[in-house]
Amino acid sequence: MVTVRVPAKVNVQLGVGGVRPDGYHDLANVFFAVALGDEVTATAADGVTLTCTGPDADAVPLDGTNLAARAARLLAAHHGLADPGVHLHIAKAIPVAGGMAGGSADGAAALVACDALWGLDTPLETLLELAAELGSDVPFALLGGVALGRGRGEILEALPVSGTFHWVFAVADGGLSTPAVFRECDRIREESGTGATIDDVPTPDADPALLAALADGDPVALADALSNDLQAAAVSLRPSLADTLHAGTEAGALAALVSGSGPTCAFLAKDADAAAHIAATLRTSGTCRTAHATYGPVPGARVVSAPTP
Ligand code: C5P
Repeated sequence: MVTVRVPAKVNVQLGVGGVRPDGYHDLANVFFAVALGDEVTATAADGVTLTCTGPDADAVPLDGTNLAARAARLLAAHHGLADPGVHLHIAKAIPVAGGMAGGSADGAAALVACDALWGLDTPLETLLELAAELGSDVPFALLGGVALGRGRGEILEALPVSGTFHWVFAVADGGLSTPAVFRECDRIREESGTGATIDDVPTPDADPALLAALADGDPVALADALSNDLQAAAVSLRPSLADTLHAGTEAGALAALVSGSGPTCAFLAKDADAAAHIAATLRTSGTCRTAHATYGPVPGARVVSAPTP
């Protein structure tokens, strides 16, 4: 039995370029890994099977479409294992369809867990390539820390960061579909007359002020630099998010933004005490289902318990 812990992410910058001929958008995507995370436990079994526990477990698909199951099969196929056997149990804390890459995290965790269970010793570089086949956000869940994602988000460069930043995440009722939020972003751009293709929208770049704030460990400067080009689209599809963002700001957050494609909202706090206060205030605000105080950056998917040899 092997257990892997894997972080959720928030995008401290999500710069979205025009839609490409393959349907994806070029990104300048600064991923930040937070301690709110899932645990995936792999046990030897016949075939590939899944179970899931946690407050959102009912919303997690347990069939072959789950990224954890796809990851197990992809790793087995890469190594030519004809008959892969693993039971994967997901202890789910990351909001489902919440804009925090929870499904991607489970895919990354399953790669690491199966690699250890099957004794494959796959190099990280190969795991990163397999992760990119599974989805745009999966490679970052392997890497963790803070990283700039280019291309559709899968071409990663680790970024320097100092200290610890304190965050609060307000979890909404129900999820938002990532493709639907990207489509809404395109629709808003077309409606405003700018156009939505790569010919219309300049390729985004990482914001130097944001990179400096991360390197300096300065939460006030980071708060000033946070940005998410998908935020207007997420709020357009779920107008109540404006109330959630407002409630966290009123409770003392340095800044508020939608996490990725939403609907989870992220709040940067000045320290751990402020984060605990903001989370408690949000929980009784009536603008979200629940709220979690957490911190980051933290490492990517890693084995936390394995059989002693
Ligand atoms: O790569 P992944 O399967 O996680 O992406 C889910 C969907 O999100 C894509 O099918 C696409 O609609 C949208 N997407 C995008 N541009 C990106 C990443 C994702 O349009 N860079």
